[in-house]
Amino acid sequence: MDLVESIHLRRSVRAFTSRPVSRDVIKEILNIARWAPSAMNTQPWEFVVATGEKLDRIRAGVVEKLKNGAAMQPDHLVVGWPMEGVYRERQVELAKRLFKAMDIPREDKEKRAWWFERGFRFFDAPVAVVIVCDKALTEAGPLLDIGAVMQNICLAALHFGLGTCIEDQGILYPEVFREHTGIPETKRLVIAIAMGYPDQDFPANLVRSEREPVDNLITWVG
Ligand SMILES: Cc1cc2nc3c(=O)[nH]c(=O)nc-3n(C[C@H](O)[C@H](O)[C@H](O)COP(=O)(O)O)c2cc1C
Repeated sequence: MDLVESIHLRRSVRAFTSRPVSRDVIKEILNIARWAPSAMNTQPWEFVVATGEKLDRIRAGVVEKLKNGAAMQPDHLVVGWPMEGVYRERQVELAKRLFKAMDIPREDKEKRAWWFERGFRFFDAPVAVVIVCDKALTEAGPLLDIGAVMQNICLAALHFGLGTCIEDQGILYPEVFREHTGIPETKRLVIAIAMGYPDQDFPANLVRSEREPVDNLITWVG
């Protein structure tokens, strides 16, 4: 697949088939993704790949915390819910599209809770990749590098016919991941990526998010 085509085709996939993803394919995706640039070539990323029963136990642990109303204490400051302005408008626009596709009315609290929970379940994906970073590094600096490797993972996954959804939701209860994977306190959980073969019949997977027109983004100087 052509690079430009891949960039346009990548989109968040929020439902997957049960078809397992081979370890060889996952390894190759991460092998490709690690060629991302990083400040002074520090390569501040490590990948924790959860699958199978282990991932199911993590899902169950996270959902239990969510249902009990346990405080979410991510290892780093995640993007908050903007309450006004253009960022809020874009967020609402996306939510409207997803809820419309999923036929979830505004007042249906039960269905909304179900939808919210799906993110914490890694959308029932067969694979969850968590990118972790050593706490010896500053908190903010490596995020740029990790963003680059994160996009590489999604694009490389697409090359192998896999769908992905980058998600903060997956790392909001880092203690559950630590308990099941042994990730030490010295490592920060930065972001999760749900991965698997896309369920093409799931309505939310057909939703396309919008982008600001390019002319609104550029300031020409000179
Ligand atoms: C840092 C980051 C965190 C995200 N967290 C979530 C999340 O927790 N749940 C979710 O459903 N989508 C999450 N997304 C996906 C975004 O909603 C999605 O990328 C955005 O709406 C653009 O849509 P697209 O990926 O289909 O192009 C996240 C994306 C990024 C980059």
